[in-house]
Amino acid sequence: MCGIVGYIGPQPALPILIEGLTRLEYRGYDSAGVALLEGDAIEIRRAEGKLAVLAGQLRDERFAATLGIGHTRWATHGRPSEQNAHPHASHGLALVHNGIIENFVELRERLEQEGFRFASETDTEVIAHLIARHRRQGLAPSQAIRAALAEVRGAYAVAVVFEAEPETLYAARNGSPLVLAKGEGESFLASDIPAVLAHTREMIFMEDGDVAALSAGEITITSLAGEPVARETTHIDWNPVMAEKAGFKHFMLKEIYEQPRAINDTLAGRIHQGEQRVALADLGLDVEFLRTMRRVVMVACGTSWHAALVGKYMVEQLAGVGVEVDIASEFRYRKPIVGPRTLLVAISQSGETADTLAALRQAKAQGATTLSICNVVGSTMTREADATLYTHAGPEIGVASTKAFTTQLVVLYLLALHLGRANGRLSGDDEATLLRDLITLPTMVEEALACAPACERLAKGLAERRDVLYLGRGIHFPLALEGALKLKEISYIHAEGYPAGEMKHGPIALIDEEMPVVCLLPDDDLMEKMLSNVEEVRARDGVPIAITQPALVDTLPEGTEAITVPPCSRYLCPVVMVVPLQLLAYYVALRRGTDVDQPRNLAKSVTVE
Ligand code: F6R
Repeated sequence: MCGIVGYIGPQPALPILIEGLTRLEYRGYDSAGVALLEGDAIEIRRAEGKLAVLAGQLRDERFAATLGIGHTRWATHGRPSEQNAHPHASHGLALVHNGIIENFVELRERLEQEGFRFASETDTEVIAHLIARHRRQGLAPSQAIRAALAEVRGAYAVAVVFEAEPETLYAARNGSPLVLAKGEGESFLASDIPAVLAHTREMIFMEDGDVAALSAGEITITSLAGEPVARETTHIDWNPVMAEKAGFKHFMLKEIYEQPRAINDTLAGRIHQGEQRVALADLGLDVEFLRTMRRVVMVACGTSWHAALVGKYMVEQLAGVGVEVDIASEFRYRKPIVGPRTLLVAISQSGETADTLAALRQAKAQGATTLSICNVVGSTMTREADATLYTHAGPEIGVASTKAFTTQLVVLYLLALHLGRANGRLSGDDEATLLRDLITLPTMVEEALACAPACERLAKGLAERRDVLYLGRGIHFPLALEGALKLKEISYIHAEGYPAGEMKHGPIALIDEEMPVVCLLPDDDLMEKMLSNVEEVRARDGVPIAITQPALVDTLPEGTEAITVPPCSRYLCPVVMVVPLQLLAYYVALRRGTDVDQPRNLAKSVTVE
């Protein structure tokens, strides 16, 4: 999730850009840069690392520019480095971009054949060269932008400056946020409100397909086809802290609501729509190895370990390959049996978790092929693993993992399909059917978010309890663990997750009228068994809360509370079902007044043993 800022007006642009980028720091980034229109030439300065590094480099330089664009980069294509930092330039123009260009590989090949030289590994640079190419063919800047954007597939918010047009700043949006703002004789653009809130509160939210031209005195918006478009100006009265969280009270809540977008970004470029097959071009592992390997071992910690447990079901059932799942801190000390025919999958949001990293190194030393599933580009695990599949969730700031988990499940599903096709277990028709389910997933997750009021209502009672039990079966058993972990880490209420079949082997002794039991009850082949568990809880005066689907509500025993989510296909159902678990934990913590985003004793990245 990159940050964009742009300015045109009477003031020196550089301090405004740097201050705006500072306000976007919460989005996380690994490098930063600015482009300034200095006289009739564009000056670009970029630096890897914190914004302070860039600001330090600029300290002794003097710029008169009153037009400029700035960027903080959260790497998606190409590791964090000065070359990959934005802005990217091409023949008299400079551009910054937030989003993912899905067809950048083919566009890059074409542009290289035409003689364009690439200076970075990014997907962004193709947009700069495409615009330059259309400029060469005689198009005016605004037309060249439109022509270039018609060729790219994917998500973008872009800002562009041209040496040939020093009075105008251009912007366009499709799928990534961009806000325009009007001050007194000056105009701004940014990927989020906080970046410009100190200057003006009058904002125009760009919509997909909009192209904007900003001059100091005026903002005009047109469609991609060049037709005029009218967009309302909105007065924003948020304070700066509210603005950082896009109006949400906590980052965790914001990140829960970002999940449909995060899933979309994770899927971008990985489904070959025409042929309806998985396209994991970024995997880079030898197909022969994938066909002949004996087993998969997954290692992870905490929430990522829960994702691995769900991934086991996906890979075993869809690809027919045996999967062992290990908590990384256990794996490293138990002399694991892994060798050259093993695929070791290390799952980690941060890519820096000490135990997971140690497990990966150990497996590698024993000859296994290693694959990391990570959210942070360039993190240690991604550098050391033989291959990496990224979850494009964007930076996760809340300590409790939410969107990283759901995007890990999406990547594991893609991996399962890829392995199933490689070893012949899945037919092309199976793959196409399973992919159709995946394509509708962001909408399902969006619809599942509608359960928030029910979660908020039930949180009132839960917040008073000392213990909560979570039960699930099959692919939903790991969700019982995840629901319990979410609740305990942010609300400090003791919670346990159990496979529902284990209840009568011990935990049932705990059940009385004081014990809420959250039961994961999708309409699947284990539904009747889960219903029996709900009955058992009710029979002992326990308080069952069923996370279920509308069709099952009437079958629930009296006295059962229900939270419903839309029905979903078998292997993707956990992605939908986890949403109420996240929201329930959030609203309970909110009632108890705990520090939701930074719970006590926890750190976002556990880099020590
Ligand atoms: C729970 C949580 C932790 C992490 C765990 C692993 O909400 O965030 O349990 O999942 O510390 O972290 P990563 O995925 O960065 O390896």
